[in-house]
Amino acid sequence: MWWENNFLECEEGKLYVGKKEVSRLADKYGTPLFVYSQTQILTNFQKLLQAFCSHSSLDIRIHYAMKANPNQNILKILKEAGAWIDAVSPGEVSRALNLGFKGGQILFTGTSVSTMDLQSVFEHEQVIINIDAEEQLELMKETRDKQFPGKKFKVSIRWNPGIGSGFNPKVVTAGERAPDDTPIKFGVEEKKVIPVFKKAVDYGFIPLGLHQHLGSGWIKEDYEEVRHAVDKMIEKAVALQDEGFSLEFLDFGGGFGPRYSEDQEVFPLEKYAEHICRKISQSKINIKAIALEPGKYLVGDAGVLLLSVEYLKESYGNLFASVNAGTFNTVPRLAIYTQAQHPIINCSNLKTEERVRITVAGNLCETGDVFGKEILLPPTKRGDILAILCAGAYCRSMASTFNLRDIPKEIIV
Ligand code: LLP
Repeated sequence: MWWENNFLECEEGKLYVGKKEVSRLADKYGTPLFVYSQTQILTNFQKLLQAFCSHSSLDIRIHYAMKANPNQNILKILKEAGAWIDAVSPGEVSRALNLGFKGGQILFTGTSVSTMDLQSVFEHEQVIINIDAEEQLELMKETRDKQFPGKKFKVSIRWNPGIGSGFNPKVVTAGERAPDDTPIKFGVEEKKVIPVFKKAVDYGFIPLGLHQHLGSGWIKEDYEEVRHAVDKMIEKAVALQDEGFSLEFLDFGGGFGPRYSEDQEVFPLEKYAEHICRKISQSKINIKAIALEPGKYLVGDAGVLLLSVEYLKESYGNLFASVNAGTFNTVPRLAIYTQAQHPIINCSNLKTEERVRITVAGNLCETGDVFGKEILLPPTKRGDILAILCAGAYCRSMASTFNLRDIPKEIIV
C-alpha cells in the first residue's frame, strides 16, 4: 500500500502499527486511541538531517515545531536525536526547558506578543527571541529596561519576504495577503528589515539570525515559489552582512510535509536541501548554521488514530459508519481546512477488493463532523477498527473537548 512505512505495515490482511497488531492494541488500550511511532519519527528526522548534511558542512539545526505535537515522549525522542525547538508561546518554552532542552536551543517565535509573554521568556536568558514586528522590539526594550535592566538577550528577526505558500489560505504565513485575501500578520516587511536590525543593536539586543516561515503543507507544485523565497532570503542576508551585521544562522522555517494522499506528489525535499546549501555556499554569506523548523514532516505520518465502528446506519440511501469519536476532539484539521486529507483504512478488513461508499460519521452534534465523506471502504461492520492516517501532526495538539467529549489517549510504540 502507498501508505506503508517503518510504522504501518500490512500483513495477511491485518494492519500492524510498530509491529503490533491493531486489534490487540485496541483491546489493551481501548479506542479512540492515538498511536505514535518512535521509529518513524527518528527515520524522518534522520532523512531530513541527511538531506542537508550531504550538501553542506555548516551546522544543521532542526528546531522541532512543537506546536505540531507537544507530546512529552515525542519531545524526549527528538531531544535524544539532537533536535532543537521552535516554540511559539511561553507554555511551549517551559515544556521544552522542563524536558531538558537548553535555553540556547529554543527559538521563541511569537505573534501578537504580550508584555506577559516577554516577561516569562526573558526569565530564561539564553532563549533566542525571534522578533515578529518593530513594535514587538519596542515592547521588548520597555519590558527589559523595567524588569531586566542591563541584560543582554539574543534575538533574530522574522521577515516576511512577500511570498508565501501553503495547502490552505489559513496557513499561508508570508506575503501581503493570503489567497483568501486575509492580510498576513506575520513578520517584518522587507523595507523595514535593515532598520529593525539596526534598532535591535541600538537597543542592546544581540541579533544572530534571519528567519522566514512561508506556510505549511507544501507539495511538489509549491517548489518554485518556495525556491524563489529562499533566494530572496539569502540575498537579504548578504545585504545585512554588507551593512555590517554578522549572522550566525539563517532559519528557513518549516512547511514541507508527509504524503497525505495517494495522488499527492510530495515536496522535493532533496532538491530543496541541495538548493539552499548550494546558494549559501555560492553567496558570500558567512554563517555558522542552517536552521529548519519542521512540524508536519517529523511527526505527521508517525501517528494514527484508531476508532471503533459502533454501527452501520442507513438513511435516505446514505450509508454511515458511526464511530466512537468526533473530528473536533481528534482530527480537527478535517473541520477547519477544506483541503485537509486523512486517508481512512478498515484495519479489520484489509484483504477484500470489494468497495462500498460510506460516510464515516463522528459522535458530535455537527453535520460537518465526518472523518470521510462518501469514501470507498471495504464492507464495514460493527466492531471494525478504522485507522485515520497521518494523524501525528496538528491533530491532538488542536483537539478540543467540544460536547464534553474526552480527547483520546496517546501511546508510543
Ligand atoms: N515555524 C513556524 C514559525 C511556524 O509558524 C510553523 C507552523 C512551523 C515552523 C511548522 O510548520 P510545518 O513544518 O508543520 O508545516 N494547523 C495547521 C498548520 C499550521 C502551521 C502553523 N505554523 C495544519 O493543521 O495544517
